Amino acid sequence: NKILLDSAKRLAARTAVDQWVTEDTKVLGIGSGSTVVFVVERVAERVWKDGALSELICVPSSFQSRQLILDHNLPLGDLDRNYKVDLYIDGADEVDSSMVLIKGGGGCLMQEKIVASCAKTVIIVADYTKQSLRLGEQWCKGIPIEVSSMAYVPVKHKIEELYGGEAQLRTALNKAGPIVTDNGNFLMDWRFVAQREYDWDEVNRTISMIPGVLETGLFVNMAAKCYFGMANGTVKVQN
Ligand code: A5P
Repeated sequence: NKILLDSAKRLAARTAVDQWVTEDTKVLGIGSGSTVVFVVERVAERVWKDGALSELICVPSSFQSRQLILDHNLPLGDLDRNYKVDLYIDGADEVDSSMVLIKGGGGCLMQEKIVASCAKTVIIVADYTKQSLRLGEQWCKGIPIEVSSMAYVPVKHKIEELYGGEAQLRTALNKAGPIVTDNGNFLMDWRFVAQREYDWDEVNRTISMIPGVLETGLFVNMAAKCYFGMANGTVKVQN
């Protein structure tokens, strides 16, 4: 199953790179997670094997993404110098039929959303398990929310009172206490009520306004297209 998922991720990533990364792409934003590994792999092939994309600069969205760019010896940029991002390619945890995304399974949502917000075009690459008609349809992993460490308790209660469900502080088996993001903050995973009808744009705006919330993993009206690598070896493109 891991092999099947990896080949779906690889196919989605390579297809999207080949369709979207051109000689006109000067600044490419690089997302985070396991699918983006294949994006960077393909970009590096184009640069180092094909001798293409000579003016390309890559802007990372996390520590992992920065390491990927460095490991492949691609030119590393940043938003201070390269804030006009031509194209941003990233994975997602779930994509609904209106292209609302849940991101942040890997904890990198804040920098991801900042870099994505600077991009002319945002393209998502994912395996077939990420596709949903409505969010929470399959298994409600929750919506990651980055919070200031001093505010996680009030933020948790405010979200639960407003919208139900349960918001939990993220921990990891091999870490005593909560995990800390690349930005030094805490993460909550809000398990919303999967059966309930939410207006995700409104939910995103309201949660973002709670003092102490730094960013939500809801990406609304950001992605132009999503490339899903399917189990049968094809790629499905969703707008
Ligand atoms: C990282 O924080 C996330 O937003 C990832 O983009 C998302 O979790 C997708 O990751 P995979 O490509 O590993 O599924």
